[in-house]
Amino acid sequence: MSAIQIQGLRPLKGTVGIQGSKNAVLPMMAAALLARGVTVIRHVPEIEDVFSMMGILDSLGCKCSLEKGVLTMDTGAASGHRIPEEYVGKMRSSCLLLGPLLAGRGEAVTYYPGGCVIGKRPIDLHLYALKQLGASFFEAGGMILARVDRFRGARIRFSYPSVGATENAILAAVTAEGETEIENCAREPEITELCRFLAVMGARIRGAGKSRITVEGVKRLYPVEFLLGGDRICAGTYLAAAAMTAGDVTVIGTEPESLREPVFYLRRMGADISIKEREKEIRLKMGGRPGPVSLCTGPYPEFPTDLQSVFLAAASVADGESRITETVFEARFAAAAILRQFGARIHMEGQTAVAAGTYPLKPAVAEAPDLRGGAALVLAGLAADGLSVIGNCRHIRRGYEDLCRDLGSLGAEICWL
Ligand code: EPZ
Repeated sequence: MSAIQIQGLRPLKGTVGIQGSKNAVLPMMAAALLARGVTVIRHVPEIEDVFSMMGILDSLGCKCSLEKGVLTMDTGAASGHRIPEEYVGKMRSSCLLLGPLLAGRGEAVTYYPGGCVIGKRPIDLHLYALKQLGASFFEAGGMILARVDRFRGARIRFSYPSVGATENAILAAVTAEGETEIENCAREPEITELCRFLAVMGARIRGAGKSRITVEGVKRLYPVEFLLGGDRICAGTYLAAAAMTAGDVTVIGTEPESLREPVFYLRRMGADISIKEREKEIRLKMGGRPGPVSLCTGPYPEFPTDLQSVFLAAASVADGESRITETVFEARFAAAAILRQFGARIHMEGQTAVAAGTYPLKPAVAEAPDLRGGAALVLAGLAADGLSVIGNCRHIRRGYEDLCRDLGSLGAEICWL
């Protein structure tokens, strides 16, 4: 199942439940190491990145299982502190284990995660935060050896609101001695959800979701049961797909507030969107072709970089010229070049993709360049007049549990090859 086939020009109609959030559950899995015992998280997506994180936890002596969305992590016998190199290359989020391993073991061994197709992706801000809390680092040939007697509360001020570095700082601070103040934090909903999870474990955190977070260190955290929220990037992907196919789609299970900017721009593109906050429902109806859009990605609450490629696909069929600027990652336009194989008229002006919309697109056989770029190509296939095939879909399975199942349930003619 490494390729997806799509027969385009089917309007998407119906309701789809949204999988659990990849970018919320990964730091929670790292946080589970901070407590001895069995932690259970429900509504967990069966995606490659979760399987990878389970593999790392198992290599550290945990016992993990994932059955029908229920993730069980038994850390009772966990004692390891070395993150296996093969996982570090596969998944950057492995560096989120640094904080918990140092907090619990006083030492950790990992490797530089290396760049990926969307950018260099350094971890300097992670290391800065952990050093502020008392950790020492020794590096040799790409390997990182970290040590700390016990984390001590500190003042951390990020030069950039990095999501992962904010999460690592919080994971290290929750059992530190004393109080930690973190300034210029990332404010993504996944950070807020991590702080909720940690609070249930017994952590004392104030300011989650704001740019200043205060953590009062506690002696011990406890294993918990937790229900994971919906994945806002999956929900945004399906709403964009509906907008591209003159559809009528309701996504259920994601906090509508977490999609405020994407909803704002979909409305600007002509979508009729109704929201039921309490029911966590967002319904999008699009009568015809979307209109053009001009947007710029940025740290939350600005437009999410993870929906940039998907919105570029939508802009490719818009009735007019769109401009999409990427400010978070330095190389996140791989999909732009491949969308041209579908007949999209896109050219680059520095970090801005300019799309002169055309409809329908042409069917194509293309390779997914990365997780979100791959999703964008699938959406292009939905708006192409014929049969398209997207290869290299292991990228897509890192973050979408089953794109064919979900889009197929909305009427798309789509299947795994
Ligand atoms: C998280 O990655 C997400 N991943 C990404 O989603 C998302 O695109 C990104 O946040 C931004 O929202 C997970 O949560 C697992 P960052 P992260 O640290 O933490 C630079 C997806 O598709 N930076 O906020 O790695 C970095 O190079 C993935 O689901 C440093 O310079 O993102 C980038 O330019 C892709 N030094 C910017 O900050 C550092 O130490 C934002 O990165 C760390 C980051």
